[in-house]
Amino acid sequence: RIAGPSALVIFGVTGDLARKKLMPAVYDLAARGLLPPGFALVGFARRDWADQDFGQVVHDAVKAHSRTPFRQDVWDSLAEGFRFVQGTFDDDKAFDTLAATLADLDRVRGTGGNHAFYLSVPPNAFPSVCQQLARSGLATSSDGSWRRVVIEKPFGHDLQSARALNAVVNEVFPEDAVFRIDHYLGKETVQNILALRFANQLFDPIWNAHYVDHVQITMAEDIGLGGRAGYYDGIGAARDVIQNHLLQLLAFIAMEEPVSFQPSELQAEKVKVLSATRLAQPLDETTARGQYAGGWQGGTQVVGLLEEDGFAHDSTTETYAAITLEVDTRRWAGVPFYLRTGKRLGRRVTEVAVVFKRAPHLPFDSTMTEELGQNALVVRVQPDEGITLRFGSKVPGSGMEVRDVNMDFSYGQAFTESSPEAYERLILDVLLGEPSLFPVNAEVELSWKILDPVIEHWATEGSPDPYPAGTWGPRSADDMMARTSRTWRRP
Ligand code: BG6
Repeated sequence: RIAGPSALVIFGVTGDLARKKLMPAVYDLAARGLLPPGFALVGFARRDWADQDFGQVVHDAVKAHSRTPFRQDVWDSLAEGFRFVQGTFDDDKAFDTLAATLADLDRVRGTGGNHAFYLSVPPNAFPSVCQQLARSGLATSSDGSWRRVVIEKPFGHDLQSARALNAVVNEVFPEDAVFRIDHYLGKETVQNILALRFANQLFDPIWNAHYVDHVQITMAEDIGLGGRAGYYDGIGAARDVIQNHLLQLLAFIAMEEPVSFQPSELQAEKVKVLSATRLAQPLDETTARGQYAGGWQGGTQVVGLLEEDGFAHDSTTETYAAITLEVDTRRWAGVPFYLRTGKRLGRRVTEVAVVFKRAPHLPFDSTMTEELGQNALVVRVQPDEGITLRFGSKVPGSGMEVRDVNMDFSYGQAFTESSPEAYERLILDVLLGEPSLFPVNAEVELSWKILDPVIEHWATEGSPDPYPAGTWGPRSADDMMARTSRTWRRP
């Protein structure tokens, strides 16, 4: 589907996200023919830029980060719809200029009064921006055109602050005009969990506590936090990615089949499963947290978090977090969901592994099954996108030795279509008014409700456990698994 006439306004357009993700995504949409001729991109920031300067910045960002090859004709027609408005978030005049700019674009570019406001700004700027949009008459329209607001995480830092933030946004925009970005939901491999589960007959009969031993959700990153202290110090891994990305992955894996793929039906199932999800107790046995120390990564020596620029020398911010969740439903009672994430780990990989129980009986000589593990279905979210099924197979030869093997589906081999980048898909959905892939208020609040107790618990615990950069996290995370006689996968 192609977006209709519209203007996308980005607040915080000088930031990293805008440059690395949003601008390239807009260009890629245009290059794939998914934006209408009546499309405009408006940047809003403090910088003293003219429209041309803004155009140059978008140009550089597109050249550096877009997925599709650069085409001059696509660029030229897109760039005619670029405008820049200079100002701060409390500046009445700047917002009046923005309103005039958008009205002018409706006239000359044919954007039809349809405006999406992308708040790529820290949450403490939300109130000013929302109020200014309301004051300048931009937040609502009376002529049938639409107004939408897009907000980026963090949606608060706990349940209470999330509620306050939602109240601020909902005062100005009705809930159906609010699009909360969780870019993991924009990933093909994440959406494919729904296809895997609900388009096939094969998996559902075993997708429950009778057959599943446990689930491991891993989001490992090799990058460190240099340059991100302003956002990350005091926030930590659990708030940064477990509260949103990993709990959304859990919801997709654990939810019941939605009545249909109507947004409200999908959201209802996610809300239901998240309301049944809670931390396993006691927390000091079922969770672990760590902070990277200096070490080696990819042959380069790297510093620890405490030596990174901008971090307090006694920062207790965790860069690694592991938790155990239980989902109190008939389907999942007794099946632990282990979630872990960390920076400066062995390598970059995100995956969901559904690990099955052992066969109740093995009619083999025990020496023949020493290399037989548990069956597993692994959704490889990134970077090597696909799905792996792991099962035991006979080793060729005269004996009946059984060993684990992998059966792989890989996107690169199965499809000639290329996957859109997550932000590309999500920006298109905003312009189309298609809310399925955006978490609703209730999901955000439930996710905080799940996580708040462990964050409060850790706050009383002193420093996180150090782990050398380039390893798979602190020993306490392995101990956590060992307590239930399990081990983490080494993806
Ligand atoms: C962001 C987090 O939401 O996701 C970052 O704030 C993290 O800390 C990033 O690096 C990872 O995204 P991806 O798509 O590279 O897995």
